[in-house]
Amino acid sequence: MDELLEHFERTIERDQRIEPRDWMPEGYRKTLVRQIAQHAHSEIIGMQPEGAWITRAPSLRRKAILLSKVQDEAGHGLYLYAATETLGVDRAELTENLIEGRQKYSSIFNYPTPSFADVGVIGWLVDGAAICNQVPLCRTSYGPYARAMIRVCKEESFHQRQGYELLMTMMRGSQEQRDMVQDSVNRWWWPSLMMFGPPDGDSPNTARSMAWRIKRHTNDELRQKFVDMTVPQAEKLGVTLPDPELKWNAEREHYDFGEPDWAELKRVISGDGECNAERVAHRRKAHEDGAWVREAALAHAAKKKGVAA
Ligand code: ACO
Repeated sequence: MDELLEHFERTIERDQRIEPRDWMPEGYRKTLVRQIAQHAHSEIIGMQPEGAWITRAPSLRRKAILLSKVQDEAGHGLYLYAATETLGVDRAELTENLIEGRQKYSSIFNYPTPSFADVGVIGWLVDGAAICNQVPLCRTSYGPYARAMIRVCKEESFHQRQGYELLMTMMRGSQEQRDMVQDSVNRWWWPSLMMFGPPDGDSPNTARSMAWRIKRHTNDELRQKFVDMTVPQAEKLGVTLPDPELKWNAEREHYDFGEPDWAELKRVISGDGECNAERVAHRRKAHEDGAWVREAALAHAAKKKGVAA
C-alpha cells in the first residue's frame, strides 16, 4: 500500500498523468468523479439557455452557428461523461444524480436569456470564463480528463470568438441594438465572475485539489486572469462593465474589481436561482422522453447477441 501511494505521489510530483488502471487514493477518485461529473452536467444543462434561441435566430448564418455551437456542448458533455466512466461510475447513474439534484452543475446556467444579445454575451463572457478555467485543465493530473479538455478548449475558443463577433456586429448597428448588448453585459458580468467558484478562503476543495494537481490554479487566480483579459475586450467593444470599483492597479499590474454577491452564488448553487427548477425539469423530460431509445438499443444489442430481449 505504501509503495502504491508513493508511486502515485511521485507520478503527480513529476507532472506525469494518472491513468485509469493506475492505483489512486479513494479521495482522489471521488474528487475527480465529483468535478468531472459536474463539468459534464454543466455542458448538457448549458445547451438550454442558448438552445432556446435556435428557432428565433435572426438569420440563417446565425442559426447555423448557434446550432453547431449547441451541438458542440452536447459533444463536450459526452467526452466528459466518458472520462467519468473510466473512474468506474455508470453514466446512467450520473444522469439520475443530476435530475434528482444529488450532483451540481454550473451556477451560470440558471440565469435567463431574454434577448438575442445574450447569445453573444454568453459566447464572449461565459465561454471566455470557461476557457480561462479549462485551459489549465489540459494539464490536470488525470489523463482522460486532460485529454478531453484539449478538444473542448479548441471548440470553446471558437464559441468565444463567435460571441464576440456577434456583439461587434450588434455594436455597429442601431442604438437599440447597442442598448441590448449593454443590458445583457450588465446582467451576465457578475454571474460570470461567480463561475470560478467561491473565494479561495471559502473554497473547501481547492487546497486538496491543487496538491493533487487536479486544479492548477485557485478560484481567485483564475477570476483575476479573466478580469484582466476581459477589460480591454470590453473597451474595444464599447461596452461598460457594471463595476464602479474596476480599475487598473499599476502596482499589482492587475485590475482591481468589486466583490461579487457571494450570497447570490450560494443561493443559485443550492437550487434557488431564477431558472434552476426549469433547467432540471427540462433535462428530466428529455431523459424520460428518450427512454424508448435506450430500451430499443438494449433490445437490439440483446438480439444481436442471440438472447431474447
Ligand atoms: N456553480 C455551481 N457550483 C459551484 C460553483 C459554480 N460556479 N463554484 C463552486 N461550486 C461548488 C463546488 O462544486 C463545491 O461543491 P461540492 O463540494 O458539493 O462539489 C462547492 O461549490 C465549493 O467550491 P470549491 O471548493 O471551490 O469547489 P471546486 O474545487 O470543485 O472548484 C470549480 C469549483 C472551479 C467550478 C471546479 O470544480 C472546476 O474547475 N470545474 C471544472 C470546470 C467546470 O465545471 N466548468 C463548468 C462550467 S463551464 C461550461 O460548461 C461552459
